[in-house]
Amino acid sequence: MELVLYEPGLGYYAGRARKFGAEGDFVTAPELGSLFGRTLARQVKSLSFGKILELGAGTGALAESLLARADLDYTILETSADLRERQRSRLGERVSWLEQLPERIRGVVIANEVVDAIPVHAVAWRPQGIMERGVAFSNGLQWQERPAEGQLLEEAKAIAVPVPYESEIGLIARAWMHALAERLEEGVIFVIDYGFPRHEYYHPQRAAGTLMCHYRHQAHADPFAHPGEEDLTAHVDFSALAEAAAGAGLDVLGYATQAQFLVNCGITEVLGEANLDNALHYAPLAAEAQKLLSPAEMGELFKVLAVGKGMSGPLLGFTRGDRTASL
Ligand SMILES: C[S@@+](CC[C@H](N)C(=O)[O-])C[C@H]1O[C@@H](n2cnc3c(N)ncnc32)[C@H](O)[C@@H]1O
Repeated sequence: MELVLYEPGLGYYAGRARKFGAEGDFVTAPELGSLFGRTLARQVKSLSFGKILELGAGTGALAESLLARADLDYTILETSADLRERQRSRLGERVSWLEQLPERIRGVVIANEVVDAIPVHAVAWRPQGIMERGVAFSNGLQWQERPAEGQLLEEAKAIAVPVPYESEIGLIARAWMHALAERLEEGVIFVIDYGFPRHEYYHPQRAAGTLMCHYRHQAHADPFAHPGEEDLTAHVDFSALAEAAAGAGLDVLGYATQAQFLVNCGITEVLGEANLDNALHYAPLAAEAQKLLSPAEMGELFKVLAVGKGMSGPLLGFTRGDRTASL
């Protein structure tokens, strides 16, 4: 997964693949239009830090809509050189870029659809024991299993699933969250992505896991079909991220579906600012709202997790329908 996504010159995010939008492979919430960013801006403004660190900013779409709404000191950490170039030409002087995580972070951190792109370990629970699923080359790429060891084995043992069962464990995502959390002196980290709390993630019916490829707007489950030319993702175990953050001393400040979060932040007020008499203006916004909020689209599957330090009182996005207890 690491190689097909990030190997310099060859990986999907390291190369020049179109990736986003109608001519690419997938569309993210900020790519749909400015509604997501304008609504998120209400949450950001209510926190009064004036400082954002965005991780994995894609084409810079979210940064553009947040900057249009608020006066922000905006920094991006982007691992893909190709996307960094695209962000530079779109955002210019309004943003600065970091090569690595700063030692200390104060303010708001946002990671939208980043954690699903962090490589996972593939695991199989078999009658003979817990196996790590790897990739071998013999007449093409294929799965090969060996007994799981070390931390992976320990984590997998703690998950109760019916055998046989295949899934993923995001060890690197946990380490990523821990590293981020350790650096946060004061502020909030928002992780927005598709995923579940642990009991839903490792549900008996999800016995084939969540590893998924995105190629020209088709989702499929064969990671060997177009290696390096398509996106490869896994759903996010939000319980694991919350635990990693708590383990580094952060508070879990909220967990909700994307729809609930956006409604709490006032997406209907943002829509209400549109010119309702002008169908040309309003119709695309209504379509965007439908995609962001509908349970059949991004509304239910996508979640927002907020963890932070030194914050008092509930955050705007979680005033109703907070599901932290389900983590
Ligand atoms: C699916 S794209 C989402 C882009 C954007 N946030 C959006 O919503 O349109 C994943 C992004 O995360 C970046 N990325 C992956 N791992 C990262 C990491 N550890 N730190 C920062 N960015 C990362 C990728 O290069 C890419 O920009």
